[in-house]
Amino acid sequence: MKRVGIMTSGGDCSGLNAVLEGAVKAADRRGYEVVGFTRGWEGILSPADYRRLTVADVDGISAHGGTILKTTNKGRFGAKLGAGGVRAIPDEILAEARDNLVALGIDALIVIGGDGSLASALQLAELGVNIVGVPKTIDNDLSATDRTFGFSSAVQVAVEAIDRIRTTAASHDRVMLIETMGRHAGWIALRSGLAGLADAILLPEFPFRLVDFVEFLDEHQAKHGCTIVVVAEGAMVEDKLVAREEGQGEVRLGGISNRLMEDIEILAPGRFDLRGAVLGHVQRGGTPNPADRSLALAYGAAAIQAVERGDFNSMVAYQNLKMTTVSIAEAVGTLKNVTPNTLDYLTARELGVFIH
Ligand code: F6P
Repeated sequence: MKRVGIMTSGGDCSGLNAVLEGAVKAADRRGYEVVGFTRGWEGILSPADYRRLTVADVDGISAHGGTILKTTNKGRFGAKLGAGGVRAIPDEILAEARDNLVALGIDALIVIGGDGSLASALQLAELGVNIVGVPKTIDNDLSATDRTFGFSSAVQVAVEAIDRIRTTAASHDRVMLIETMGRHAGWIALRSGLAGLADAILLPEFPFRLVDFVEFLDEHQAKHGCTIVVVAEGAMVEDKLVAREEGQGEVRLGGISNRLMEDIEILAPGRFDLRGAVLGHVQRGGTPNPADRSLALAYGAAAIQAVERGDFNSMVAYQNLKMTTVSIAEAVGTLKNVTPNTLDYLTARELGVFIH
């Protein structure tokens, strides 16, 4: 009989509840007890905030967005310093978390989180806590895994938005900019831009010159009357990011579509009827689609299998259509970006999309 702790940490993401359902059901089959900590690491620190999770508690929650355990991307346990930097969590905080887990008889802790939460987990593992990580991000930018849950649902939301915006853009002969999330990776913009047949896709990985973009808009408007542009929040105009500092060196992205409209207006005053739509957290909320549900259930079950094998300080990863594990240290080390060899990128270029 094992007692397994589980928590959701960092920004929320479609499919978190499905990971919980997968883990609790797989644990129950093995006779393990699952304890859910609330609000990420905060629930493990004193006063510990937790509850037993039974099969009845999680039955059917896969269909719901968010996380029944709640989450936070702030707090005493934060280890991320922005742009890949890692902060050492104070010894007394780490010791407090370890002691609380020991007092509760937790044999292993499953951490469902992004690179920041997993970097924190690594520091706790050094104190002897048995950790299994589950990668979580709608951005799909973790190199150790082929796909993260939440990405597919975010893309679906973005494609629906593109389809809707296309008809209004066409009615008014407008240039419409649709801004997607994704931080410093262009995966959401690229996949949704291609599937939604955008005319231009602007990605962080491929900085572009404003004059070239305006020239493209001139040509496209003359030929087609309206233009759909998908822009990733981390895209760079003339090598400049639109971001604001959020303390500890972390930046908050968002607002590039407005900035682009202003810049275009300066360069080509009155030439285009421009409108923007920032999709923001709409991409993260609501019902996970079937692809994300099944992937997240598989991640949850794989995490319990890793606990059973004693495969600790590892992160479950989806590679070549199978679940495997990699070391957390390896997993949080490198981000995955769009490259000139990415199939969606090559396809977009073949179709004549302005993507650069
Ligand atoms: O990493 C996931 C993500 O949704 C990014 O795409 C986005 O930049 C960020 O989180 C937004 O974070 P918050 O919810 O803190 O505004």
